[in-house]
Amino acid sequence: MKYSKLLFIIIVAASCQAGLDSSNQSSSKVSELLRNMTWNEKIGQLSMSYVPELNSDVIAEIKSGKIGAILNGRTSFYSRVMRDSMQRIAVESSRLGIPILFGHDVIHGFRTIFPISLGQSCSWDIDLIRNAAEVAASEASSYGVNWAFSPMVDVSRDPRWGRIAESYGEDPYLNSVFGAAVVSGYQGEQLDSLSFLAACMKHYVGYGAAEGGRDYDYTEISERTLSEVYLPPFKAGLDAGAQSIMSAFNDISGIPATSNTHTVRDKLKNEWNFGGVVLSDWDAIAQLRHHGVAVSDKDAAVAAIKAGVDMEMKTKTYFELDSLNLNHKTWVDESVERLLMFKEKIGLFDQPYAATKYQLTPDTLSRFLARKIARESMVMLKNDRKTLPLQGCESIAVVGPFSEEKELMGWWKSLGDTRDVITPYQGLDRLALSKINVTKKITNFTDLIVACVGESQDWFGENNNRAFLDLPGEQEEWVKSLKKYGKPIVLIIFNGRPLSLTNIIDDVNSILIAWHPGIEAGNALADLLYGFHSPSGKLTTTWPRSVGQVPLYYNRRTSGRPDQISYKDELITPLFPFGFGLSYSSFEYDVPEGEFVESHPRITIDVTNQGQTKASEIVQLYRKRADNIETFPRLSLIGFDKKLIAPDEIKTFIFQVADHQPRDRYFCGSSSADLVEVGI
Ligand code: GLC
Repeated sequence: MKYSKLLFIIIVAASCQAGLDSSNQSSSKVSELLRNMTWNEKIGQLSMSYVPELNSDVIAEIKSGKIGAILNGRTSFYSRVMRDSMQRIAVESSRLGIPILFGHDVIHGFRTIFPISLGQSCSWDIDLIRNAAEVAASEASSYGVNWAFSPMVDVSRDPRWGRIAESYGEDPYLNSVFGAAVVSGYQGEQLDSLSFLAACMKHYVGYGAAEGGRDYDYTEISERTLSEVYLPPFKAGLDAGAQSIMSAFNDISGIPATSNTHTVRDKLKNEWNFGGVVLSDWDAIAQLRHHGVAVSDKDAAVAAIKAGVDMEMKTKTYFELDSLNLNHKTWVDESVERLLMFKEKIGLFDQPYAATKYQLTPDTLSRFLARKIARESMVMLKNDRKTLPLQGCESIAVVGPFSEEKELMGWWKSLGDTRDVITPYQGLDRLALSKINVTKKITNFTDLIVACVGESQDWFGENNNRAFLDLPGEQEEWVKSLKKYGKPIVLIIFNGRPLSLTNIIDDVNSILIAWHPGIEAGNALADLLYGFHSPSGKLTTTWPRSVGQVPLYYNRRTSGRPDQISYKDELITPLFPFGFGLSYSSFEYDVPEGEFVESHPRITIDVTNQGQTKASEIVQLYRKRADNIETFPRLSLIGFDKKLIAPDEIKTFIFQVADHQPRDRYFCGSSSADLVEVGI
């Protein structure tokens, strides 16, 4: 589906919700249950318990209806048998037989692990991202997971923040379209499909704005920035059918997200008419005491349920609520009704047990997809003298701390198994097709060095923040030491965030950003290095020259002296701009043309592949808005399209813009720093 077309559909279909019934009306079943539930059973439905193992206490809690949902960890989940035996206790041995929801952090795959989300976003391929979510849903639901704690759509403008790895980058529009694609991939169009997985958009809201890139730290977000930057991806996910949202740890300009009536009850539930469920993040309700807005667990519980947080993860403060307090009763009944409706909508009453017979594991098809999305996520930042693809080499040395690394599945690797990972060396050795000799050491016969460096999986992710953005440890010195061999150097970086490569960029011929690419790492890398496919990925975050420039993102608001902004000791421009990525081919952009069609601008541009290689090109459309009251971002991405173009072939890209304002100006090009204004 064309991306501009998809953009149009997302805007037009704002009220529709694919996959799930969007009505907020209770069914007779839910109303009946509500009437019959005791106070403790109601509070039980609002509790998600952390249950690492099944024991007699847990069995007793399930039987007494004190558990509405269960999670059991970041990289573990029950066997189908264990999960179904827990469910059977709830359905057959509790008084009302209400089934339990089983949640899990399915972030970028469940057993088949795909690239980290920040990597996937660099594919700019909505269909691929949705397909990966479909596979994750099939695998997770085959284990009995009903509820995925994703997509994470926190706009991330600070590479020091460890969880930028989990996001779809610094742009609100990309986080919107890719988050919506994941929701569609999880939930599909058929509610009762065997592979249905309920999405949970997170972390609501503004989590990525943590001061200093320090996870959990406070944020200062204006109402306008909230509505223009941090909220849109959540709205897009809800419009795609998501029925649950997770409240964040951070405060929002002084009000914790998990007790924030303005963002939860007023904005989400009332203004957006959200009929689904708000789940707190791990002990975020009890944390309200640390925020200082609660002096007891009961205080915290009241603040959260009053704000509209329906279910409590991990802690049990909701059991402190007072059944005799009319407000507490009103809030609790509303939340229980939402929980029961949620369970009914996702088919849990009809299908409480794992729907398929077997637990799915990586297979040929899922690996094919993992390899394709990993390939399309990788971004080539430098390729001097066309060093890549590796042609004419007889012997290459694949070396460095990541050359045989198996932990390339990111921090949220779910049930990913390192035994499934193809390492960089394995991929390059297997696909050399005996034409190239691949060694693990540099010898006199080495024609070229493939140097594999990066960030290990515990250097990004939750609370893995950094104050510097250089390659960790002694890796930079090691890269520089390779020059003594006098051989061309291809640098492969396995990372979870934008890095500052200023110190080493001149020491290597080529740079390929591989992210943590998942289980098909080595094969995807070999596909690109041997030229079976051309790199096509483009950055969805700005890459700074140095950490002192941070925060540095492309869609900053304008200034009264835009050309005088500077540093004494650093350039003001990024090392690599948002939207940048190289190809083995080269593309000529014709002059873009604009016309009004039914008062909406339509922008058309022809792109020619001038190279010798078939390759995909991602054309981007940006808007510069202005009015006579407020300042606006100097540029805002509003559309993109990606097409495979053969040598000498011309492909036409068409963008239909939906919300034109009188002073809007449009720019088209290959990155945020390589644009041509559209005459319209
Ligand atoms: C974590 C994360 C959240 C995750 C949850 C359950 O602390 O903040 O993203 O879904 O707890 O693991």
